[in-house]
Amino acid sequence: MTTATPATTSASTALYAPDEALVRSAHVSGREAYDRLVAEADADHEAYWARLAREYLDWKQPFTQVLDSSQAPFFRWFGDGTLNASYNCLDRNIERGLGKKTALIFEADDGQVTHVSYSDLLERVCRTANALKSLGVKKGDRVVIYIAMSIDGVVAMQACARIGAIHSVVFGGFSAQALRDRIADTGAVLVITADQQARGGKHLPLKAIVDEALMLGGCDSVRNVLVARRTGGAVPFQAPRDLWLADIVAAQSVSCEPEWVEAEHPLFLLYTSGSTGKPKGVQHSTGGYLLHAALTCHWTFDLRPEDVFWCTADIGWVTGHSYITYGPLALGATQVVFEGVPTYPDAGRFWKMIQDHHVTVFYTAPTAIRSLIKAAESNPAVHPSRYDLSSLRILGSVGEPINPAAWEWYHEHVGGRRCPIVDTFWQTETGGHMITPLPGVTPLVPGSCTLPFPGIAAAVVDETGQEMPWGEGGMLVVKRPWPSMIRTIWNDPDRFKKSYFPDEFQGRYYLAGDGAIRDAKTGYFTITGRIDDVLNVSGHRMGTMEIESALVGKTDLVAEAAVVGRPDDTTGEAICAFVVLKRNRPQGEDAKKIAAELRDWVAKEIGPIAKPKDIRFGDNLPKTRSGKIMRRLLRSVAAGEAIKQDISTLENPAILEQLGQTY
Ligand code: WTA
Repeated sequence: MTTATPATTSASTALYAPDEALVRSAHVSGREAYDRLVAEADADHEAYWARLAREYLDWKQPFTQVLDSSQAPFFRWFGDGTLNASYNCLDRNIERGLGKKTALIFEADDGQVTHVSYSDLLERVCRTANALKSLGVKKGDRVVIYIAMSIDGVVAMQACARIGAIHSVVFGGFSAQALRDRIADTGAVLVITADQQARGGKHLPLKAIVDEALMLGGCDSVRNVLVARRTGGAVPFQAPRDLWLADIVAAQSVSCEPEWVEAEHPLFLLYTSGSTGKPKGVQHSTGGYLLHAALTCHWTFDLRPEDVFWCTADIGWVTGHSYITYGPLALGATQVVFEGVPTYPDAGRFWKMIQDHHVTVFYTAPTAIRSLIKAAESNPAVHPSRYDLSSLRILGSVGEPINPAAWEWYHEHVGGRRCPIVDTFWQTETGGHMITPLPGVTPLVPGSCTLPFPGIAAAVVDETGQEMPWGEGGMLVVKRPWPSMIRTIWNDPDRFKKSYFPDEFQGRYYLAGDGAIRDAKTGYFTITGRIDDVLNVSGHRMGTMEIESALVGKTDLVAEAAVVGRPDDTTGEAICAFVVLKRNRPQGEDAKKIAAELRDWVAKEIGPIAKPKDIRFGDNLPKTRSGKIMRRLLRSVAAGEAIKQDISTLENPAILEQLGQTY
């Protein structure tokens, strides 16, 4: 565990009061309502969550136990209750008369639109669930889903949930090697993919990458590969292992009795980066997770029956799980699912889609906003003012800190100064929003995620667990368990304990891995960035060690590598790699060539999102006399800052000059 460096808040001080009409009408209406919920949770934490779990979810077997802390930090919620996530997202909405309501408005990369009603979606999910069963997939089996944004992707996840299989979605931008590692770690029996994906007018491989991953070894558990047809592009097929999804699904019945699982039954595993090399398989439960996904959609996004919700995240990330596949469907909402990219055919795509589909609640990442600001500045035709965005009523931000300038632009040009921005802080491990404004409650400060969601005991503490005074930075922790918290790391319970419930806090507090500071006057939280070796590039989590081990894995070339982040105007942080080669330090054209080779290598090992933006070569890395790499010094070099650190202990000061050159 690294110590948080005290930071000053980067949030501005402007307060935007919530709109009066929204204060009156919102699901959580006004500050008093918020305070009442917080007080209810404080007074009896378990009774509070039990009440909500009964209100928001339908249980087959109602629970009688709420929280079981006997195996802490392996907490159990609603342990003796049974339910099914897909039943809660589909059947019960249809039973409530929403069968004909549009569940998904799918817009393809090329602009083609498909509406899927709740009844249609249930049919597709049941057929796919039956197909999985016909291939011998059982409750508790793992299914890896490697697919782009698609109806098939959402259906595949829901189908797994229906039969109690545990899905693990792998983002379509990950390489064969990264996919192999995840398949091997989960021990998946089946992989669901598509022939190809369409992104920004291009067709990119998926099935071919699955083939490559399975050939890398360690994936003997995989019996079948189900392939959805997306582009119709030719793909190699290996009978009897590979099957076209459409063929096998066509033969199936349209009804499938849900598998009623215990609340703690794992709904999914999702791999995320940590401070060490290996990504960790974050395990989520069915009951607690689904509760928070639904509840936060209701309170943070204030979702109503007539809303059209659009979360632009990919189902390969946790945001796509909680705010596409599960939360909105659990509430019977209508939502947009988008296959493509924000800049194709031009950077007005998001605004045009909001206009076309009358989107009312829009949830995206600061990176996207920053890149669309740039685009709008250079091409007025794609400025949001050119589109009718009057349907919007609430905006959201997620994945990384939003800088006040981007916040103000989003507020003014997208939200027309009418729409509150909910800056939602949370993590793969937390399952849903942890610290966030509520639209009918919270006066907004650009750059601050404001106050904890009711029931979430967030605090800022020092290394001994003592709460910091407001105005002083420290580590963000959660002092009490909550229903949607990570249950364990798949195959690695020790790492779960060490990473999240460290001994420093006697295993009592959940350690988020972020630094935070509370405003001296309002108590609002601002996240000051990770306190471990995790980077946030365009809202994607990347472990520095993961990239380092990929680089040194190029054994014919690389002797040593250190990776740090540096601030970047568009992507938030950028990856900067310092590399020592096994041969002479390259310069000029030679260095450029090798840098390109290393980037390709990292793309192959992890995926294009992990490619270092900057590569710097040295004869050595700056180390202390005891041989430790001076990472803070490297961070200053990467950021182009004047060196303020004490370099008197540096073994070889001359290398600082070498490392000044970026390739
Ligand atoms: C960062 C994404 C500031 C943070 C849901 C966290 C944020 C990591 C915010 C989790 C926010 C996420 N303000 N920082 N609103 N939201 N982060 O697991 O560093 O992909 O620990 O989950 O993103 O990233 P993850």
